Amino acid sequence: MRLTINEIQALKTQNIPIPMITAYDYTTAKIVESSGIPIILVGDSLGQVVLGYNTTVPVTIEQIIHHATAVVRGTKTTHIVADMPFMSFQSDLKSAVANAGQILKQSGAQSVKIEGGSHMATTIKTLVEIGIPVMGHIGLTPQSFNQLGGYKIQGKSLVEAQQLIEDAISVQESGAYAVVLELIPSEIAKVITNKLNIPTIGIGSGEYCDGQVQVINDVLGMDANFQPRHSKQYADLSSIIGEAIKNYVNDVHDGKFPTKAESFTLPKDVYDDLINSI
Ligand code: KIV
Repeated sequence: MRLTINEIQALKTQNIPIPMITAYDYTTAKIVESSGIPIILVGDSLGQVVLGYNTTVPVTIEQIIHHATAVVRGTKTTHIVADMPFMSFQSDLKSAVANAGQILKQSGAQSVKIEGGSHMATTIKTLVEIGIPVMGHIGLTPQSFNQLGGYKIQGKSLVEAQQLIEDAISVQESGAYAVVLELIPSEIAKVITNKLNIPTIGIGSGEYCDGQVQVINDVLGMDANFQPRHSKQYADLSSIIGEAIKNYVNDVHDGKFPTKAESFTLPKDVYDDLINSI
C-alpha cells in the first residue's frame, strides 16, 4: 500500500519532517524507495536533467507519463507525485481535468503537482472535487521562466511577500494536500508553514518548512558544472561514473576485459565436433 495524502498530512501534525526527492526512472526509484523516502516527485525538471532542455517549458504530458510509469513500476510503498507540465492545465479547466486524469490513469501516480498560487485556485478546486489530489507549487515557478526572466528568489519586497502568503492560503483553501515553496526567503516560508494546516515542502526556502524536496541529480552530484546554491551534494557521481567508464575503456583497449571470468565456454565435445565440422 502506498503512502496516502492523509498520511502525508498526518506527518505535519506529528511534527515529522518530510523528505521528498525527484526520480525519473525505474532503477533510481527502486533505490530511492529503499532509502526511506516517503514521496517521489516525477518533476518536469526531467526536461533539463534527463532530456537536456534549457527550461521545463518544452516538457510534454507524454514525457511525464513515460517517466512516471517507470517510477511507479520501481516502487511499492512510496507516494508518487507527477508534475503537470507547462500548458497542460493553464489554458482551460476542461483540458486541465482531462490531462490530470490522463496522467494519473496512465502512469499510476497518486497525485499531481500544479504550479501557481491564487490564480490556480479554481483549477485546483475542480481537480480535488473530482478526486485528483493536488500538490501546489508557489514561489519560483520554473514553468514561468520566460515571464520571470530567470530563476530568482521570489518574495523579496513587502508586496511580493504578502502575495506569497495569500497564494499559500488560497492553495490550501482550494483543497491542495501540500504545497511546494520554491526559492523564497526562509522568514516567509516560516510564516506560511505556521499559517497552513497542510505540509509545506521547501526547495531553497530554508529550514522552517515541514518537508524538503530536491532534484536528485543535484543531490548526487551528477553534473560537474552545475550545483545550485540551495542544494547539498551528498555524492560526486559525475566523478565516480566518469572514472568507472574510463577504467572500462582502458580495460577494453588493454585487453583486460573481458577475461575468462566474464566469458562462457562450450562443452569440450561440442567444441571438438564444431572444429571438425568447419
Ligand atoms: O520539477 C521539479 O523537479 C520540481 C521541484 C524543483 C520542486 O518542481
